Amino acid sequence: NIAPPCLLVILGAAGDLTRRKLMPALYAMHRAGHLPASFAILGTARAEMDDAAFRAAMRAACDTFGEAVTDTEWTSFAARLHYQTGNFNDVSAYQSLAARISGLDARHATDGNRMFFLATLPSLYAGIAAQLGAAGLVHSDPDGPFSRVLIEKPFGHDLASAQALNRALHDVFREEQIFRIDHYLAKETVQNILVLRFANALFEPLWNRQHIDHVQISATEHIGVGSRGGYYEESGVLRDMVQNHLLQLLALVAMEAPLSFAADRVRDRKVDVFRALRPLIGEDAYRDVVLGQYAASADGAMPGYHQEAGVASDSITPSYAALKVQVDNWRWQGVPFYLRTGKRLAQGCAEVVVQFRTIPFCAFGEEQACTRIAPNRLVLCIQPDESVRLEFAAKVPGPGMAVETARMHFGFHGRHPDAPPAYQRLLLDALHGEQLLFARADGVEMSWRFITPILEAYADHPGAEPYAYPAGSRGPVAADTLIARDGHAWQPLG
Ligand code: BG6
Repeated sequence: NIAPPCLLVILGAAGDLTRRKLMPALYAMHRAGHLPASFAILGTARAEMDDAAFRAAMRAACDTFGEAVTDTEWTSFAARLHYQTGNFNDVSAYQSLAARISGLDARHATDGNRMFFLATLPSLYAGIAAQLGAAGLVHSDPDGPFSRVLIEKPFGHDLASAQALNRALHDVFREEQIFRIDHYLAKETVQNILVLRFANALFEPLWNRQHIDHVQISATEHIGVGSRGGYYEESGVLRDMVQNHLLQLLALVAMEAPLSFAADRVRDRKVDVFRALRPLIGEDAYRDVVLGQYAASADGAMPGYHQEAGVASDSITPSYAALKVQVDNWRWQGVPFYLRTGKRLAQGCAEVVVQFRTIPFCAFGEEQACTRIAPNRLVLCIQPDESVRLEFAAKVPGPGMAVETARMHFGFHGRHPDAPPAYQRLLLDALHGEQLLFARADGVEMSWRFITPILEAYADHPGAEPYAYPAGSRGPVAADTLIARDGHAWQPLG
């Protein structure tokens, strides 16, 4: 699985993402033998640095955020690393970048293949794409060397800005050259949703409104916004987690079977799901969406959102959301999907709970005993416990016919402890031109089409401030009410 020759140009190479995620992933790929000899990395950012200083900073980053660095391996990896100072708003910077790129292409024999990773402020994406095009750095001939662009989230701020960004990118790149990152899609357990559904005869026949009562999708975090207060103020939970990660999970759970696992066939079916989401506009958004914001924990040990650096003291940015979502199609009519996500909750956990219908008739004694028989549940745990759990009824040993819930558990980690982290998978797939794990233009726009009216409903409504919940709690009580209204309850996590 060796990547093709390539020059990877990281724009925004002095930032957090490069240090925390990209460089440790690239170093691990180097160690694992995934990078060919003809592969080089050019970092660029405003910070003044030469190659040596960049290499030293990247070594420290790998030491801190990745696997332990050894001298010999670092020396061979560092020979691939280069740096160029540049201001992304300055046209002449792209001329110097072009000259540097052509020198490195020749020196590392990259065949002219290049991949641009935009790790900058999102507001710069469109301008950078235009400048790369104007400087002649993007080859568009599908039969020539490849030029690709990888873009970190957030992709747009609402529907209009996502459409504008897509237009700006399409002025320079063909859709096949654009790789929009959603790192949830690169989690092994997320990809396993498709395998579980479409490589087994067991589940798919039951995967519909006849047999499924409802679905719960949770991605809760124990951490707060930390040092990202400035970004988060602009974003809030709906943009940060729901528009992308949670709706992607929903699409994988709800989509029809694709014709093949070719990227576009899968993405076609995911877009169908986004298209089928029942809009939540105005009153519907107040009814089916609950927003929350964390306050300081009861013991004062965890600060409230308002106390975080970079956050306004009267901010109404939500850090928690619970939604009831309906997918209006043949398969899912009447089956609610409950989504919840938030920061500073009791537990950090991402999972999907598929709850099946209750049995139609109970032959085990009195009515009362039967109401205690829990429905079957299939729990797909994404993190921290990477597993699949099936809950079913079993007999309590001993006299009588008492029934209890049994749990069958499959853990991935025990079987595959070395599964590569998300960014390695994303970089390698992009280098191979594989788009399956990346969002397509229409999918991103459709998901914004669903989220934007909710954002608008809450932005313009003075009485719709988020509910406060104590840091370290289960979130606002209103989220329990939202699901209880339909006679359900959130399943305990983990
Ligand atoms: C990111 C969000 O996309 O996902 C963060 O910006 C969030 O706010 C993170 O913490 C969660 O990802 P993971 O992989 O830690 O579940």
